Amino acid sequence: MSEQQPPKSPTSRRAFLKAGLTAGGAAAFAPSALAGALGGGDPANQPPNIPEWTRSLGDGVAVRAYGKPSKHEAHVIRRDVEWLTASRESSVSFTPIHELDGIITPNGLGFERHHSGIAEVDPADYRLILHGLVDKPLIFTLDDLKRLPRVNRAHFCECAANSGMEWRGAQLNGCQYTHGMVHCVMYTGVTLKTLLGEAGVKPNAKWLLLEGGDSAAMTRSLPLQKALDDVLIAYRMNGEMLYPEHGYPARAVIPGWEANMWVKWLRRIEVGDQPWHHREETSKYTDLLENGKARRFTFVMDAKSIITSPSPQAPVNHKSGLTVLSGIAWSGRGKIARVDVSLDGGRNWRTARIDGPVWDKALTRFYYEFDWDGRELLLQSRAMDETGYVQPGKAELRKIRGVNSIYHNNGIQTWYLHKNGEIENVEIS
Ligand code: MTE
Ligand code: CO
Repeated sequence: MSEQQPPKSPTSRRAFLKAGLTAGGAAAFAPSALAGALGGGDPANQPPNIPEWTRSLGDGVAVRAYGKPSKHEAHVIRRDVEWLTASRESSVSFTPIHELDGIITPNGLGFERHHSGIAEVDPADYRLILHGLVDKPLIFTLDDLKRLPRVNRAHFCECAANSGMEWRGAQLNGCQYTHGMVHCVMYTGVTLKTLLGEAGVKPNAKWLLLEGGDSAAMTRSLPLQKALDDVLIAYRMNGEMLYPEHGYPARAVIPGWEANMWVKWLRRIEVGDQPWHHREETSKYTDLLENGKARRFTFVMDAKSIITSPSPQAPVNHKSGLTVLSGIAWSGRGKIARVDVSLDGGRNWRTARIDGPVWDKALTRFYYEFDWDGRELLLQSRAMDETGYVQPGKAELRKIRGVNSIYHNNGIQTWYLHKNGEIENVEIS
C-alpha cells in the first residue's frame, strides 16, 4: 500500500478553501462563509475521542463480493408515486437525482418504466432478428453482437412523460418526482449502422420497426436516417451488462430522442418503407394541443435543466453563508452550451459553472456557489444548447402547447427557498 497523506487539520483546510476562493476571483463570499456549518452526530465518535470504527477489526473482503453503498445511504433509492401506475401492467419509478452528483447514474438507481414488467431473458436463448427490406435477413445471438465492433457512449434517457404531472401547475414536492424520469449511462454496444450493414438495406427502405421481447411486445417506428446516424444496440451500462430492468441483454439507445423509443429486451428489427401503426397504450406518445389537434413525431427531447440541490428533498441545512447550488442540464439536439441560474425568480440571471465532461446528448453538471444571506429566494435554472435553443419558461410553453399535454414539458422549474432552508415547488407568473 502506498503512503497516505496525513489528514489536514480543519484550520488548514479552511485556510486553503479561503485562499482558493479568493484566487478564483469569487469575491461574493464572506471570509467566514463556512462558519456555522459544523455540528451533529455523536461527540463520542469525534475528535479528540477515538471513534468506534477505529477500535475493532472490520469485515474482510469476502463479505462483500458485490459492493453496495454504505448503510447510511440506504435512503438513496428509486421511488414511485403510489397513485401513479405502480402495477405490474404499467409501472414507473424515479431516479433520486437530488442525491446524485456528476453526470453518470449508478446502475441500481436509474428510473424504470415498464409496460408489462421486467422480462427475465436467458442470454443463451436471446436472439435479435433483423429482416424486412434487407438483402440478407439475419438472426444475431448475444455473442454475435459482442463480436462486432464496439462503441462506448454516454447519453441521457428521458421519458417524454418526465415533468408531465407539472403541466397544469406545481404538483409534486421533489425533483425526484418532477424530473426523475431521466438517467445518464455509459453504454457499450454495436451501432445499428453496423448491423444494417451486415444485412444490406434495400434502396426503398425508410423506416424501422423496433420490437421488445417483454409481454407488452413494445414496438416503435424509427426513421432509417436516425438509425444510421447514432443509434446503438447496447448490451452494457457503465461497464456492466445491462440490468434486467433496463433491457438485459440488449436494448436500443436512441440518443436525444424520447425514451419510449429505447426499446428494451430488443428482439426484432424490421426494415420497411413507412412508419407502423402502434397501440396507444405503449407507443403513441402524441401531444394533445389546446385545439384538440395532436403533435406527431415529437421525437427529440428539447433542452432542459433542473436544480437538484437545494431542492425539496435536499433542503439547505445551514442558516446562511456559503451555499452550493447544483443541477443537471441536457439537450436532445447536442451539447449544453451554457446554463444560467436565477435566485430571484428569473429577474436576474448569472452564468453557472459547468464542471465535468460536456458530452453530446448527455447530462451536464452545473454549479453555482453563493453566499446566502438567509433570505427567501426563488431558484431557477435555464439551459442553452449548442444550437442556440433556450429552455423556455412554463408560461411561454403553455402559450404554445396549452395544458392538455402530458409529454415534453421542458419548462423552467422554480424552487422557493424558505428562511428555514426548506424548499417548495412553486410557480410564479
Ligand atoms: N421497452 C420495452 N420493451 N417495454 C417497455 O415497457 N418502456 C419504454 C422504453 N422501452 C418500455 C421499453 C419507456 S416508456 C421508457 S420511458 C424507457 O423504456 C425507460 O427505460 P428504463 O426503464 O431503462 O429507464
Ligand atoms: Co417513457
